[in-house]
Amino acid sequence: MEENRPSWSSRLTFILAAVGSAVGLGNIWRFPYIMGQNGGAVFLVVYLLLILTICFVPLFAELAMGKITKKECIGAFESVNPKFKIFGFLNPLTGILVASFYFIVGGWIIDYIFLSLTNIKIEDYGSYFVTLIQDSVSACVFTLVFLLICIIFAARGIKKGIEFANNVLMPLFAVILLGLIVFSLNLPNAHEGLIYMFKPDFSKVNAHMFLAALGQALFTLSIGMGALLTYGSYIREDKSILKSTYTIIFSDTLFALMAGIMIFPAIFSFGLEPNSGAGLVFITIPQIFAQIPYGNIVSAAFFVLLFAAAVTSGISIIEVPIASMVERLKLTRTKACAAVFSIIALISIPATLSFGQLENFKLCGKTVFDFLDFTTSSILMPLNALFLCLIAGWFLKIKGEHFIQNKFFAFLFDIGLKYVVPIILVALLYVGLK
Ligand code: PHE
Repeated sequence: MEENRPSWSSRLTFILAAVGSAVGLGNIWRFPYIMGQNGGAVFLVVYLLLILTICFVPLFAELAMGKITKKECIGAFESVNPKFKIFGFLNPLTGILVASFYFIVGGWIIDYIFLSLTNIKIEDYGSYFVTLIQDSVSACVFTLVFLLICIIFAARGIKKGIEFANNVLMPLFAVILLGLIVFSLNLPNAHEGLIYMFKPDFSKVNAHMFLAALGQALFTLSIGMGALLTYGSYIREDKSILKSTYTIIFSDTLFALMAGIMIFPAIFSFGLEPNSGAGLVFITIPQIFAQIPYGNIVSAAFFVLLFAAAVTSGISIIEVPIASMVERLKLTRTKACAAVFSIIALISIPATLSFGQLENFKLCGKTVFDFLDFTTSSILMPLNALFLCLIAGWFLKIKGEHFIQNKFFAFLFDIGLKYVVPIILVALLYVGLK
């Protein structure tokens, strides 16, 4: 079986794929809207603190566990101790639940690409968003189209496609984001957006915000769902994964900050509400495009590149259940892709309808979409990260010195993995869910 496992053609491909997994809708769509709902700058402070301190540990441990065990999630946990199989199983399960709402947003992007190419005035895109999410048929169709595209890439194997998307499209995306930032910063009242983003109001600190920041940090770095473990398990040569960890954290944070600096000045300049929820980016960005000469073209380019970023993340999300099915159930890759497609389609349809027909159907007081988003990022991903740290630290006995040359940092990593990060994760889960 080992011999038939896919593997990366080079270390660079692996790094690009891992960065491609991290940089996605989490940065451009989710980060500004969660930040807007959680008090702006003060959220950013907590988020950055978490990213720069504790997130390093589970991210690194996930990659290391994949690289050491060379197995998909269930097998990786099982190889440490057969009793841990259940913790492994939580990963593909989380992946399926994440995919079931992530791909809906992917569908909205496809719709916006078409919209940019039609004659509708860009000023009207904002109000169009409401029509879009409520039109169940087209929203479901676009969700399924997005899902299908990711499945097709996944079915063709892990290497093809991902390389192109990450080598060519991501740098282009950064360029277009920079252009939009310059534009946004020159809008009237732009400084208010910057104040909102960078001047913390510590009176807004609350327990729930900490969990939201943790959830966002894990989500955006693709931690706690087995995506990095699975990608790590495809690393063949004996190269360091330390550099990959830095690169993921650095590029992901850069894209999130760029998204924020593009969005918040525009929100304040156009008198929009930063806490308006999941539609924030889709309502705000068109207003920027409306002011730009050839806005339609810029808009199309922006959404195509955002689409590429979303696809490279989407592929990594579904790779987790696909790899588990291939290696555990001995399905062919094509059959596993078909099975994963069907399961995600089944769950994502009610989630898509939660903006229309199923608007009033609530699970624990949340719509299906919000329920999936919240339970995965604020409960399952932190829990998975916790189990991962404990099992990797105490049972697999991953040691910093095997990967990190600097003795002091290796020591810090060991302490973090076994004690500090698990304690912080438990504490944040406890206060956030209380
Ligand atoms: N990190 C991705 C993003 O920011 C989403 C993701 C979550 C991907 C979990 C893989 C695993 O869009």
